[in-house]
Amino acid sequence: MGETNRRGFLASAAASQLAATAVGTFAAPGESRGAESLKQGEPLKGAEPLPVALIGCGGMGRSHLETLVRRDDVQLRWVCDVDRDRVNAAKKLITDAGKPEPQATADLREVLADPSLRAVWIATPDHWHGPAAILAAHAGKHVYVEKPCAHNLREGRLMLEAARRNGIVMQVGTQSRSTAHVRQAIALLAEGAIGEVLVAKAWNSQRRGSLGHQQPSEPPEVLDYDAWVGPAAWQPYQSNLLHGVWRFWHNFGCGDIGNDGVHEIDIARWGLGVDRHPDRIAGLGGKYGFDDDQQFPDTQYCVYEWSTPEVLGTKQLVFEQRDWSPYVQEGHENGNAFYGTKGMLVLGKKSGWQLFGERNKLVDQAEGSFSLPPHYDNFLACIHDGGRPHADIEEGHRSATLVHLGNIACRLGRTLQFDPEAEQVLEDREAAAILRRTYRDGHWAVPKDV
Ligand SMILES: NC(=O)c1ccc[n+]([C@@H]2O[C@H](COP(=O)([O-])OP(=O)(O)OC[C@H]3O[C@@H](n4cnc5c(N)ncnc54)[C@H](O)[C@@H]3O)[C@@H](O)[C@H]2O)c1
Repeated sequence: MGETNRRGFLASAAASQLAATAVGTFAAPGESRGAESLKQGEPLKGAEPLPVALIGCGGMGRSHLETLVRRDDVQLRWVCDVDRDRVNAAKKLITDAGKPEPQATADLREVLADPSLRAVWIATPDHWHGPAAILAAHAGKHVYVEKPCAHNLREGRLMLEAARRNGIVMQVGTQSRSTAHVRQAIALLAEGAIGEVLVAKAWNSQRRGSLGHQQPSEPPEVLDYDAWVGPAAWQPYQSNLLHGVWRFWHNFGCGDIGNDGVHEIDIARWGLGVDRHPDRIAGLGGKYGFDDDQQFPDTQYCVYEWSTPEVLGTKQLVFEQRDWSPYVQEGHENGNAFYGTKGMLVLGKKSGWQLFGERNKLVDQAEGSFSLPPHYDNFLACIHDGGRPHADIEEGHRSATLVHLGNIACRLGRTLQFDPEAEQVLEDREAAAILRRTYRDGHWAVPKDV
Protein backbone atom coordinates (compact mmCIF):
# COMPACT_ATOMS: atom_id res chain seq x y z
CA MET A 1 0.00 0.00 0.00
CA GLY A 2 1.41 3.42 -0.95
CA GLU A 3 2.09 5.93 1.80
CA THR A 4 -0.83 8.19 0.89
CA ASN A 5 -3.25 5.27 0.57
CA ARG A 6 -1.98 3.74 3.78
CA ARG A 7 -2.41 6.99 5.66
CA GLY A 8 -5.90 7.33 4.21
CA PHE A 9 -6.63 3.76 5.28
CA LEU A 10 -5.38 4.37 8.81
CA ALA A 11 -7.30 7.62 9.05
CA SER A 12 -10.52 6.06 7.75
CA ALA A 13 -10.11 3.00 10.00
CA ALA A 14 -9.63 5.29 12.93
CA ALA A 15 -12.52 7.44 11.81
CA SER A 16 -14.91 4.51 11.48
CA GLN A 17 -13.82 3.19 14.85
CA LEU A 18 -14.47 6.57 16.40
CA ALA A 19 -17.77 6.93 14.60
CA ALA A 20 -18.77 3.57 16.04
CA THR A 21 -17.69 4.81 19.47
CA ALA A 22 -19.99 7.78 19.10
CA VAL A 23 -23.03 5.53 18.71
CA GLY A 24 -21.97 3.30 21.54
CA THR A 25 -21.13 0.08 19.65
CA PHE A 26 -17.39 0.29 20.25
CA ALA A 27 -15.42 1.74 23.08
CA ALA A 28 -11.78 2.74 22.65
CA PRO A 29 -9.69 1.39 25.53
CA GLY A 30 -10.52 3.04 28.77
CA GLU A 31 -13.62 4.66 27.33
CA SER A 32 -16.99 4.15 28.93
CA ARG A 33 -19.61 1.94 27.33
CA GLY A 34 -23.23 1.63 28.21
CA ALA A 35 -25.26 4.34 26.56
CA GLU A 36 -28.30 2.21 27.26
CA SER A 37 -27.59 1.99 30.98
CA LEU A 38 -27.57 5.75 31.53
CA LYS A 39 -30.85 7.11 32.83
CA GLN A 40 -31.48 10.47 31.23
CA GLY A 41 -33.94 13.24 31.89
CA GLU A 42 -36.64 14.02 29.37
CA PRO A 43 -34.95 14.55 26.00
CA LEU A 44 -35.09 18.20 25.04
CA LYS A 45 -36.70 19.32 21.84
CA GLY A 46 -33.86 19.91 19.39
CA ALA A 47 -34.84 23.47 18.58
CA GLU A 48 -34.81 24.82 22.13
CA PRO A 49 -31.56 26.21 23.47
CA LEU A 50 -30.52 24.33 26.62
CA PRO A 51 -30.68 26.57 29.72
CA VAL A 52 -27.20 26.45 31.29
CA ALA A 53 -25.07 28.21 33.89
CA LEU A 54 -21.40 28.90 34.51
CA ILE A 55 -20.10 28.57 38.07
CA GLY A 56 -16.62 30.08 38.38
CA CYS A 57 -15.95 32.92 35.93
CA GLY A 58 -12.14 33.09 36.19
CA GLY A 59 -9.42 32.21 33.66
CA MET A 60 -10.99 29.00 32.35
CA GLY A 61 -14.50 30.22 33.05
CA ARG A 62 -13.87 33.02 30.56
CA SER A 63 -12.81 30.49 27.91
CA HIS A 64 -16.04 28.62 28.57
CA LEU A 65 -18.08 31.82 28.26
CA GLU A 66 -16.40 32.79 25.00
CA THR A 67 -17.20 29.34 23.62
CA LEU A 68 -20.74 29.17 25.01
CA VAL A 69 -21.85 32.56 23.67
CA ARG A 70 -21.02 31.42 20.14
CA ARG A 71 -23.52 28.56 20.36
CA ASP A 72 -27.22 28.76 19.57
CA ASP A 73 -28.03 25.43 21.23
CA VAL A 74 -27.44 26.77 24.76
CA GLN A 75 -28.67 29.81 26.64
CA LEU A 76 -26.61 31.14 29.54
CA ARG A 77 -29.23 31.78 32.23
CA TRP A 78 -26.85 32.26 35.17
CA VAL A 79 -23.28 33.28 35.88
CA CYS A 80 -21.92 32.73 39.37
CA ASP A 81 -18.71 33.88 41.01
CA VAL A 82 -17.71 34.97 44.50
CA ASP A 83 -15.62 37.78 42.98
CA ARG A 84 -17.92 40.68 42.04
CA ASP A 85 -15.60 42.00 39.33
CA ARG A 86 -15.48 38.62 37.68
CA VAL A 87 -19.21 38.00 37.69
CA ASN A 88 -19.80 41.49 36.27
CA ALA A 89 -17.21 40.88 33.55
CA ALA A 90 -18.95 37.60 32.72
CA LYS A 91 -22.32 39.34 32.37
CA LYS A 92 -20.75 41.97 30.13
CA LEU A 93 -19.10 39.38 27.91
CA ILE A 94 -22.49 37.75 27.34
CA THR A 95 -24.41 40.95 26.59
CA ASP A 96 -21.55 42.26 24.40
CA ALA A 97 -22.00 39.09 22.35
CA GLY A 98 -25.62 40.08 21.77
CA LYS A 99 -27.06 37.44 24.07
CA PRO A 100 -29.72 38.04 26.77
CA GLU A 101 -28.37 39.23 30.12
CA PRO A 102 -28.02 36.28 32.51
CA GLN A 103 -28.86 36.36 36.20
CA ALA A 104 -25.81 36.77 38.39
CA THR A 105 -25.05 35.54 41.89
CA ALA A 106 -22.22 34.70 44.27
CA ASP A 107 -24.13 31.73 45.72
CA LEU A 108 -24.21 28.59 43.62
CA ARG A 109 -27.21 27.29 45.59
CA GLU A 110 -29.31 29.99 43.94
CA VAL A 111 -28.25 28.71 40.52
CA LEU A 112 -29.00 25.09 41.36
CA ALA A 113 -32.43 26.00 42.75
CA ASP A 114 -33.59 27.21 39.31
CA PRO A 115 -35.84 24.40 38.03
CA SER A 116 -35.51 25.57 34.41
CA LEU A 117 -31.77 25.03 34.40
CA ARG A 118 -30.54 21.80 32.76
CA ALA A 119 -26.74 21.91 32.89
CA VAL A 120 -23.89 23.66 34.69
CA TRP A 121 -20.29 24.29 33.72
CA ILE A 122 -18.13 24.26 36.87
CA ALA A 123 -14.81 26.10 36.52
CA THR A 124 -14.06 26.88 40.15
CA PRO A 125 -10.81 26.00 41.94
CA ASP A 126 -10.38 22.26 42.54
CA HIS A 127 -11.58 22.29 46.16
CA TRP A 128 -15.05 23.33 44.97
CA HIS A 129 -15.35 20.81 42.08
CA GLY A 130 -16.59 17.84 44.13
CA PRO A 131 -18.92 19.75 46.48
CA ALA A 132 -20.46 21.81 43.65
CA ALA A 133 -20.80 18.88 41.22
CA ILE A 134 -22.41 16.65 43.84
CA LEU A 135 -24.93 19.35 44.75
CA ALA A 136 -25.64 19.91 41.04
CA ALA A 137 -26.15 16.19 40.43
CA HIS A 138 -28.56 15.97 43.35
CA ALA A 139 -30.42 18.97 41.90
CA GLY A 140 -30.79 16.96 38.65
CA LYS A 141 -28.47 19.17 36.57
CA HIS A 142 -26.07 17.74 34.00
CA VAL A 143 -22.51 18.68 34.87
CA TYR A 144 -19.45 19.72 32.89
CA VAL A 145 -16.76 19.92 35.56
CA GLU A 146 -13.22 21.09 35.05
CA LYS A 147 -10.19 18.86 35.53
CA PRO A 148 -8.89 17.41 37.75
CA CYS A 149 -12.44 16.30 38.53
CA ALA A 150 -11.80 16.34 42.28
CA HIS A 151 -9.46 17.72 44.89
CA ASN A 152 -9.00 14.26 46.44
CA LEU A 153 -9.83 10.63 45.71
CA ARG A 154 -12.83 10.34 48.03
CA GLU A 155 -14.62 13.27 46.42
CA GLY A 156 -14.04 11.77 42.95
CA ARG A 157 -15.70 8.53 44.06
CA LEU A 158 -18.66 10.46 45.52
CA MET A 159 -19.03 12.47 42.29
CA LEU A 160 -19.22 9.27 40.27
CA GLU A 161 -21.83 7.84 42.63
CA ALA A 162 -23.86 11.08 42.56
CA ALA A 163 -23.83 11.11 38.74
CA ARG A 164 -25.03 7.53 38.48
CA ARG A 165 -27.60 7.80 41.26
CA ASN A 166 -29.18 10.87 39.67
CA GLY A 167 -28.90 9.72 36.05
CA ILE A 168 -27.12 12.84 34.90
CA VAL A 169 -24.29 13.29 32.39
CA MET A 170 -21.03 14.32 34.04
CA GLN A 171 -18.33 15.31 31.59
CA VAL A 172 -14.83 16.22 32.85
CA GLY A 173 -12.94 19.07 31.18
CA THR A 174 -10.18 16.95 29.65
CA GLN A 175 -11.08 18.16 26.18
CA SER A 176 -8.41 16.03 24.47
CA ARG A 177 -10.88 13.15 24.79
CA SER A 178 -12.90 14.88 22.05
CA THR A 179 -9.93 16.09 19.98
CA ALA A 180 -9.84 14.43 16.56
CA HIS A 181 -6.08 13.81 16.22
CA VAL A 182 -5.81 12.52 19.81
CA ARG A 183 -8.73 10.14 19.24
CA GLN A 184 -7.14 9.03 15.97
CA ALA A 185 -3.82 8.30 17.71
CA ILE A 186 -5.55 6.32 20.47
CA ALA A 187 -7.48 4.31 17.86
CA LEU A 188 -4.18 3.50 16.09
CA LEU A 189 -2.69 2.29 19.38
CA ALA A 190 -5.77 0.13 19.97
CA GLU A 191 -5.38 -1.37 16.48
CA GLY A 192 -1.84 -2.44 17.35
CA ALA A 193 0.00 0.12 15.21
CA ILE A 194 3.01 -0.05 17.57
CA GLY A 195 2.40 -3.60 18.81
CA GLU A 196 1.50 -4.04 22.43
CA VAL A 197 1.72 -0.76 24.35
CA LEU A 198 3.63 -1.60 27.52
CA VAL A 199 4.72 1.84 28.71
CA ALA A 200 3.23 5.31 28.31
CA LYS A 201 4.85 8.57 29.28
CA ALA A 202 3.20 11.90 30.09
CA TRP A 203 5.19 15.07 30.61
CA ASN A 204 4.68 18.65 31.67
CA SER A 205 7.77 20.68 30.83
CA GLN A 206 7.26 24.41 30.94
CA ARG A 207 8.29 27.59 32.72
CA ARG A 208 6.05 28.79 35.55
CA GLY A 209 6.44 31.90 37.65
CA SER A 210 7.39 32.10 41.31
CA LEU A 211 4.63 32.61 43.90
CA GLY A 212 7.03 34.52 46.12
CA HIS A 213 6.51 34.68 49.88
CA GLN A 214 3.52 36.49 51.36
CA GLN A 215 1.87 36.95 54.74
CA PRO A 216 -1.87 36.93 55.52
CA SER A 217 -3.62 40.18 54.64
CA GLU A 218 -7.11 41.60 54.06
CA PRO A 219 -8.89 40.14 51.01
CA PRO A 220 -9.92 42.58 48.26
CA GLU A 221 -13.30 44.21 48.83
CA VAL A 222 -14.79 42.65 45.64
CA LEU A 223 -14.03 39.10 46.84
CA ASP A 224 -16.19 37.06 49.23
CA TYR A 225 -13.20 35.12 50.53
CA ASP A 226 -15.27 33.17 53.06
CA ALA A 227 -17.39 31.79 50.18
CA TRP A 228 -14.25 31.20 48.10
CA VAL A 229 -12.78 28.95 50.84
CA GLY A 230 -16.20 27.30 51.19
CA PRO A 231 -16.05 23.77 52.61
CA ALA A 232 -12.23 23.61 52.67
CA ALA A 233 -10.42 23.93 55.99
CA TRP A 234 -10.21 27.61 56.92
CA GLN A 235 -7.01 29.39 55.92
CA PRO A 236 -6.49 33.15 56.13
CA TYR A 237 -6.32 35.08 52.88
CA GLN A 238 -2.97 36.03 51.42
CA SER A 239 -2.36 37.53 48.00
CA ASN A 240 -0.48 34.54 46.54
CA LEU A 241 -3.39 32.14 47.23
CA LEU A 242 -5.61 33.38 44.41
CA HIS A 243 -6.68 33.79 41.69
CA GLY A 244 -5.28 31.01 39.55
CA VAL A 245 -2.39 30.12 41.87
CA TRP A 246 -4.50 28.29 44.50
CA ARG A 247 -3.56 25.11 42.57
CA PHE A 248 -0.12 25.20 44.21
CA TRP A 249 -1.61 24.93 47.74
CA HIS A 250 -2.62 21.59 49.32
CA ASN A 251 -5.84 22.99 50.75
CA PHE A 252 -7.23 24.07 47.40
CA GLY A 253 -5.43 22.40 44.49
CA CYS A 254 -3.48 19.39 43.27
CA GLY A 255 -0.24 20.97 42.03
CA ASP A 256 0.74 21.28 38.38
CA ILE A 257 0.44 17.50 37.95
CA GLY A 258 -3.29 18.01 38.59
CA ASN A 259 -3.41 21.14 36.48
CA ASP A 260 -1.68 20.72 33.12
CA GLY A 261 -0.29 17.28 33.99
CA VAL A 262 -3.66 15.57 34.29
CA HIS A 263 -4.43 16.22 30.60
CA GLU A 264 -1.41 14.16 29.56
CA ILE A 265 -1.85 11.59 32.33
CA ASP A 266 -5.39 11.02 31.09
CA ILE A 267 -4.19 10.56 27.49
CA ALA A 268 -1.39 8.22 28.65
CA ARG A 269 -3.78 6.02 30.64
CA TRP A 270 -6.25 5.98 27.72
CA GLY A 271 -3.60 4.91 25.20
CA LEU A 272 -2.16 2.36 27.59
CA GLY A 273 -5.62 0.80 27.70
CA VAL A 274 -5.91 0.50 31.46
CA ASP A 275 -9.36 1.02 32.86
CA ARG A 276 -8.70 0.54 36.52
CA HIS A 277 -6.50 2.04 39.22
CA PRO A 278 -2.83 0.94 39.42
CA ASP A 279 -1.38 -1.48 41.96
CA ARG A 280 1.86 0.33 42.78
CA ILE A 281 2.84 3.98 42.74
CA ALA A 282 6.30 5.48 43.21
CA GLY A 283 7.10 9.16 43.25
CA LEU A 284 9.94 11.53 43.90
CA GLY A 285 10.04 15.27 43.61
CA GLY A 286 10.58 18.58 45.27
CA LYS A 287 11.10 22.26 44.79
CA TYR A 288 14.29 22.28 42.77
CA GLY A 289 13.56 25.44 40.83
CA PHE A 290 11.58 27.83 43.04
CA ASP A 291 12.02 29.29 46.51
CA ASP A 292 8.45 30.38 47.20
CA ASP A 293 5.29 29.47 49.15
CA GLN A 294 4.21 26.76 46.68
CA GLN A 295 3.48 23.50 48.52
CA PHE A 296 3.74 21.08 45.58
CA PRO A 297 6.88 19.88 43.77
CA ASP A 298 8.03 21.91 40.76
CA THR A 299 10.04 18.85 39.75
CA GLN A 300 8.28 15.53 39.91
CA TYR A 301 8.62 11.94 38.67
CA CYS A 302 5.82 9.43 39.26
CA VAL A 303 5.70 5.82 38.11
CA TYR A 304 2.47 3.82 38.12
CA GLU A 305 2.37 0.08 37.64
CA TRP A 306 -0.50 -2.21 36.71
CA SER A 307 0.53 -5.75 37.49
CA THR A 308 -2.18 -8.33 37.02
CA PRO A 309 -0.73 -10.60 34.33
CA GLU A 310 -3.91 -12.62 33.79
CA VAL A 311 -5.89 -9.48 32.96
CA LEU A 312 -3.57 -6.92 31.42
CA GLY A 313 0.02 -7.98 31.47
CA THR A 314 2.27 -5.57 33.30
CA LYS A 315 2.00 -1.97 32.18
CA GLN A 316 3.64 1.21 33.33
CA LEU A 317 2.83 4.91 33.15
CA VAL A 318 5.56 7.47 33.81
CA PHE A 319 4.85 11.15 34.53
CA GLU A 320 7.58 13.77 34.58
CA GLN A 321 7.39 17.46 35.31
CA ARG A 322 9.79 20.37 35.31
CA ASP A 323 8.07 23.67 35.94
CA TRP A 324 11.23 25.73 35.44
CA SER A 325 12.10 24.63 31.86
CA PRO A 326 12.60 27.35 29.27
CA TYR A 327 12.51 24.61 26.58
CA VAL A 328 10.10 21.93 25.45
CA GLN A 329 10.66 18.20 25.54
CA GLU A 330 10.63 16.00 22.42
CA GLY A 331 8.98 18.84 20.55
CA HIS A 332 6.12 19.37 22.97
CA GLU A 333 5.72 21.49 26.09
CA ASN A 334 3.20 18.96 27.30
CA GLY A 335 3.20 15.63 25.59
CA ASN A 336 2.91 11.89 25.53
CA ALA A 337 4.97 8.99 24.25
CA PHE A 338 3.66 5.46 23.89
CA TYR A 339 6.21 2.67 23.78
CA GLY A 340 5.05 -0.52 22.06
CA THR A 341 6.70 -3.81 21.20
CA LYS A 342 6.89 -2.76 17.52
CA GLY A 343 7.15 1.01 17.58
CA MET A 344 6.58 4.27 19.36
CA LEU A 345 4.03 7.05 19.06
CA VAL A 346 4.77 10.61 20.20
CA LEU A 347 1.80 12.93 20.70
CA GLY A 348 1.27 16.60 21.41
CA LYS A 349 -2.37 17.36 22.23
CA LYS A 350 -2.01 20.79 20.66
CA SER A 351 0.09 19.80 17.64
CA GLY A 352 -0.18 16.25 16.31
CA TRP A 353 1.47 12.84 16.44
CA GLN A 354 4.29 10.87 14.85
CA LEU A 355 4.36 7.10 14.61
CA PHE A 356 7.80 5.48 14.50
CA GLY A 357 8.62 1.88 13.63
CA GLU A 358 11.76 -0.09 14.34
CA ARG A 359 15.01 1.92 14.37
CA ASN A 360 12.91 5.09 14.67
CA LYS A 361 11.67 4.95 11.07
CA LEU A 362 8.91 7.54 10.68
CA VAL A 363 5.90 5.50 9.55
CA ASP A 364 3.09 8.03 9.72
CA GLN A 365 2.19 11.39 11.19
CA ALA A 366 -0.67 13.84 11.49
CA GLU A 367 -1.12 17.40 12.61
CA GLY A 368 -3.87 18.63 14.84
CA SER A 369 -4.88 21.18 17.41
CA PHE A 370 -7.45 21.12 20.11
CA SER A 371 -10.42 23.24 20.99
CA LEU A 372 -13.35 23.17 23.34
CA PRO A 373 -16.36 22.93 20.95
CA PRO A 374 -16.09 19.20 20.13
CA HIS A 375 -16.08 18.41 23.86
CA TYR A 376 -19.21 20.53 24.30
CA ASP A 377 -20.81 18.85 21.26
CA ASN A 378 -20.22 15.49 22.91
CA PHE A 379 -21.58 16.66 26.29
CA LEU A 380 -24.70 18.18 24.74
CA ALA A 381 -25.29 15.15 22.49
CA CYS A 382 -25.22 12.89 25.54
CA ILE A 383 -27.72 15.16 27.32
CA HIS A 384 -30.05 15.09 24.33
CA ASP A 385 -29.68 11.49 23.20
CA GLY A 386 -28.28 9.52 26.14
CA GLY A 387 -24.89 7.89 26.39
CA ARG A 388 -21.75 8.33 28.40
CA PRO A 389 -19.61 11.28 27.39
CA HIS A 390 -16.04 10.97 26.12
CA ALA A 391 -14.61 12.17 29.45
CA ASP A 392 -17.19 10.52 31.65
CA ILE A 393 -16.70 11.09 35.38
CA GLU A 394 -15.55 7.47 35.76
CA GLU A 395 -12.62 8.17 33.41
CA GLY A 396 -12.02 11.52 35.08
CA HIS A 397 -11.95 9.87 38.49
CA ARG A 398 -9.44 7.24 37.34
CA SER A 399 -7.08 9.82 35.88
CA ALA A 400 -7.43 12.22 38.83
CA THR A 401 -6.66 9.28 41.11
CA LEU A 402 -3.26 8.97 39.41
CA VAL A 403 -2.65 12.62 40.27
CA HIS A 404 -3.64 12.12 43.92
CA LEU A 405 -1.59 8.93 44.34
CA GLY A 406 1.47 10.43 42.62
CA ASN A 407 1.27 13.45 44.91
CA ILE A 408 0.94 11.29 48.02
CA ALA A 409 3.92 9.12 47.01
CA CYS A 410 6.05 12.25 46.45
CA ARG A 411 4.86 13.94 49.64
CA LEU A 412 5.65 10.92 51.82
CA GLY A 413 8.68 9.79 49.82
CA ARG A 414 7.67 6.15 49.62
CA THR A 415 6.16 3.65 47.22
CA LEU A 416 2.44 2.99 47.74
CA GLN A 417 0.77 -0.40 47.40
CA PHE A 418 -2.79 0.24 46.30
CA ASP A 419 -5.94 -1.88 46.33
CA PRO A 420 -7.64 -0.73 43.11
CA GLU A 421 -11.03 -2.21 43.94
CA ALA A 422 -11.28 -0.89 47.50
CA GLU A 423 -9.53 2.37 46.49
CA GLN A 424 -7.28 2.06 49.53
CA VAL A 425 -3.58 2.44 50.16
CA LEU A 426 -2.40 -0.77 51.83
CA GLU A 427 -0.58 -0.79 55.15
CA ASP A 428 0.10 2.94 55.20
CA ARG A 429 -2.33 4.87 57.39
CA GLU A 430 -0.60 8.18 56.79
CA ALA A 431 -0.99 7.81 53.01
CA ALA A 432 -4.57 6.51 53.32
CA ALA A 433 -5.54 9.61 55.33
CA ILE A 434 -4.58 11.89 52.40
CA LEU A 435 -7.08 10.14 50.12
CA ARG A 436 -9.61 12.36 51.90
CA ARG A 437 -9.44 15.94 53.10
CA THR A 438 -10.19 17.99 56.19
CA TYR A 439 -13.34 20.16 55.90
CA ARG A 440 -14.65 23.26 57.57
CA ASP A 441 -16.93 22.08 60.37
CA GLY A 442 -20.61 22.28 59.51
CA HIS A 443 -20.23 23.98 56.10
CA TRP A 444 -23.34 23.50 53.92
CA ALA A 445 -21.32 22.25 50.94
CA VAL A 446 -19.46 19.42 52.70
CA PRO A 447 -20.60 16.30 50.80
CA LYS A 448 -22.24 13.47 52.74
CA ASP A 449 -20.12 10.37 53.44
CA VAL A 450 -16.77 12.10 53.00
N1 LIG B 1 -9.58 22.35 30.57
C1 LIG B 1 -8.56 23.17 30.52
O1 LIG B 1 -7.82 23.21 29.54
C2 LIG B 1 -8.32 24.09 31.67
C3 LIG B 1 -7.43 25.18 31.54
C4 LIG B 1 -7.26 26.01 32.66
C5 LIG B 1 -7.92 25.75 33.85
N2 LIG B 1 -8.75 24.66 33.93
C6 LIG B 1 -9.45 24.35 35.18
O2 LIG B 1 -10.45 25.33 35.40
C7 LIG B 1 -10.62 25.52 36.81
C8 LIG B 1 -10.48 27.00 37.14
O3 LIG B 1 -9.15 27.38 36.89
P1 LIG B 1 -8.79 28.92 36.63
O4 LIG B 1 -7.40 28.94 36.17
O5 LIG B 1 -9.86 29.52 35.80
O6 LIG B 1 -8.87 29.50 38.13
P2 LIG B 1 -9.31 30.97 38.59
O7 LIG B 1 -8.86 31.11 40.00
O8 LIG B 1 -8.86 31.98 37.60
O9 LIG B 1 -10.89 30.92 38.51
C9 LIG B 1 -11.72 30.26 39.43
C10 LIG B 1 -12.93 31.15 39.68
O10 LIG B 1 -13.84 30.45 40.52
C11 LIG B 1 -14.38 31.41 41.42
N3 LIG B 1 -14.95 30.74 42.58
C12 LIG B 1 -14.36 30.26 43.69
N4 LIG B 1 -15.27 29.72 44.53
C13 LIG B 1 -16.47 29.87 43.93
C14 LIG B 1 -17.81 29.52 44.29
N5 LIG B 1 -18.09 28.90 45.45
N6 LIG B 1 -18.81 29.83 43.46
C15 LIG B 1 -18.57 30.49 42.30
N7 LIG B 1 -17.31 30.84 41.88
C16 LIG B 1 -16.28 30.52 42.70
C17 LIG B 1 -13.21 32.30 41.75
O11 LIG B 1 -13.58 33.53 42.33
C18 LIG B 1 -12.57 32.45 40.38
O12 LIG B 1 -13.08 33.55 39.67
C19 LIG B 1 -9.58 24.64 37.49
O13 LIG B 1 -10.17 23.44 37.88
C20 LIG B 1 -8.57 24.38 36.40
O14 LIG B 1 -7.89 23.16 36.57
C21 LIG B 1 -8.97 23.87 32.87
